[in-house]
Amino acid sequence: MIEKGRDNMYKLAPSLLAADFGILKEQIAQLDEAKVPYLHLDIMDGVFVPNLSFGLAVVESIRKYTKMVFDVHLMIVEPERYVEQFAKAGADIFCFHIEATRDAKATIAKIKECKMKVGIAVKPATPLSKIKDLLNEVDMVLVMTVEPGFGGQKFMQEQMAKVEELVKIREENKYNYDIEVDGGINPETLKICFGAGANVIVAGSAILGAQDISARVEEFAQIATEYNI
Ligand code: DX5
Ligand code: ZN
Repeated sequence: MIEKGRDNMYKLAPSLLAADFGILKEQIAQLDEAKVPYLHLDIMDGVFVPNLSFGLAVVESIRKYTKMVFDVHLMIVEPERYVEQFAKAGADIFCFHIEATRDAKATIAKIKECKMKVGIAVKPATPLSKIKDLLNEVDMVLVMTVEPGFGGQKFMQEQMAKVEELVKIREENKYNYDIEVDGGINPETLKICFGAGANVIVAGSAILGAQDISARVEEFAQIATEYNI
């Protein structure tokens, strides 16, 4: 019998942005070997954020080599334009920024139509009031713990107030969404995230920049156990 995972359990989502793209296939294989459940894919357009990353072609190409859940983080204006294409390319979770969309409700409906899970992301300066009326419709809320655009930045601890508030709202309303944090997460700041109640952890440099990826993944898992997440 397949054991059903409990709600809001710990999931690690290494960010591919920190990979060596010259050996991309190998890096993905290393994450698979480390039994990582999610792969976080940062899509940037140079407009919503001041950086460019990669797009549909890369997502489609790597889909062939791994069964990891593709957690696609859209940092592009009007992400609604690309819902179908990311679904076709193999995205499992379509996570878009509330600041980037013209119509969040319509975007959510489209994502569901395309059979993907819905993630809604907020930048550090965006209050939760902007997404309150959407929380009953989403599978995941992403609280940015750095200004989106670049890997390797410093963790913004004050964002934990939002994580705590999301836990409270979830309890009060019996919602189910996962709480994801993204930016500046290492074994130390990870503890702060777990302490606040986050359960999906994005980490770029801390995982793909580690000497031994599996050992670092194991270190994260050990901390999750300590926090009972
Ligand atoms: C930043 C991206 C992050 C980034 C995290 O805009 O959303 O996913 O890759 O990188 P680290 O973990 O190095 O801060
Ligand atoms: Zn991200």
